[in-house]
Amino acid sequence: MAMDPGDAFRWDGELTLTRHDPETGATFVIRVDSIRHGRAAGGTRAAHYPSLTDALADAARLADAMTLKMAVSNLPMGGGKSVIALPVPRKDIDTRAWDRILRLHAENIDRLNGIYWTGPDVNTNSADMDIVGDTTGFVFGRSVGRGGAGSSAVNTAVGVFEAMKATARFGGMGGIEGLTVLIQGLGAVGGHLATMAAEAGARLLVADVDSDRIAWAQRFGCNPVPIQQVTTTPCDIFAPCAMGAVVDRAVARRLSASAVVGAANNILADAEAGSVLRDREILYAPDFVSNAGGALHLVGREVLGWDDETVASYTEAIGQTLTLVYQISAADGVPTDVAARTLARKRADAPEPLAR
Ligand code: NAI
Ligand code: PHE
Repeated sequence: MAMDPGDAFRWDGELTLTRHDPETGATFVIRVDSIRHGRAAGGTRAAHYPSLTDALADAARLADAMTLKMAVSNLPMGGGKSVIALPVPRKDIDTRAWDRILRLHAENIDRLNGIYWTGPDVNTNSADMDIVGDTTGFVFGRSVGRGGAGSSAVNTAVGVFEAMKATARFGGMGGIEGLTVLIQGLGAVGGHLATMAAEAGARLLVADVDSDRIAWAQRFGCNPVPIQQVTTTPCDIFAPCAMGAVVDRAVARRLSASAVVGAANNILADAEAGSVLRDREILYAPDFVSNAGGALHLVGREVLGWDDETVASYTEAIGQTLTLVYQISAADGVPTDVAARTLARKRADAPEPLAR
């Protein structure tokens, strides 16, 4: 949900760490939302923010989503997140400065003595986690050659695809074949999702600010949609896979889709959006349920010692969890995001054996 600027400071999580580096102009934020059920984990997002208040608010929202994601997935971890507020967009940071930024970030993490573990997120990847790993052991998602579980993006996409299939079933749309799926953001997750949906016979509409990504998707039959028309173009499933806060109450009122199922963290921009989607009978798959495949991969491989098969079966179970969320929403007459929070709280208080 969107926060007003004051909420960035009134936040009631466990801990906030901030540090500024005059040399690169980067400001580091780590927010640990909860360690009630284990060490906090959540990725490192690097982005250019309008203000430090925005960066703090984003970190709080993202850390909260990680707590919910771990709980609803029955993973024995708490939630946290790092935001590196860059002075300019990531593409304008040179290699030397980026290396310094990652090493300072790793120092900050190390000082927290393991209550917070990081991993990849927007604008960071396994190669970056390898650099972080030179300074601290509290890092998931290093490359396989360096002893990590590698990228979390592929399994995130697999989980989102399971969520799409479950949503199509629950919403009476049948299978994915023949459905029109609009993917916003063809990055590490959205790109994999696009290939899976295309293979399953979906008609794909795609949008990305990066024209190279669009050209790539056109090669396997995707049709581009202008960025400004993403939330007005009719489709069966709208899949936000870029940044969050895509659906506010106004977008929810005009959206021409049967369902919203995406990878982006914090898709809903305000509390009312979920209610509007429910009133309009648009199924919203809460992001922290659908996009848990990355967490299942990283925590499963690096903490719980899961093999490929085990990761795959727990990722498939995302569809069952989501169906349960839809059932709770229907039975209690509440929006799906509220139902998912209820389920997350229940599982946090009494974790279920992981269903297979
Ligand atoms: P990414 O940085 O690889 O991809 C994002 C893509 O969105 C890029 O291609 C970028 O050009 C595009 N984009 C940015 N702004 C856009 C806009 N306004 N309209 C259309 N396209 C735009 O990031 P990644 O890893 O694919 O993550 C995507 C989302 O999924 C993020 O919200 C992330 O927090 C979330 N997520 C990622 C996980 C992971 O394991 N990578 C796990 C769970 C959630
Ligand atoms: N950033 C990803 C997410 O939002 C993957 C991740 C999960 C990173 C857990 C670190 C820890 O789920």
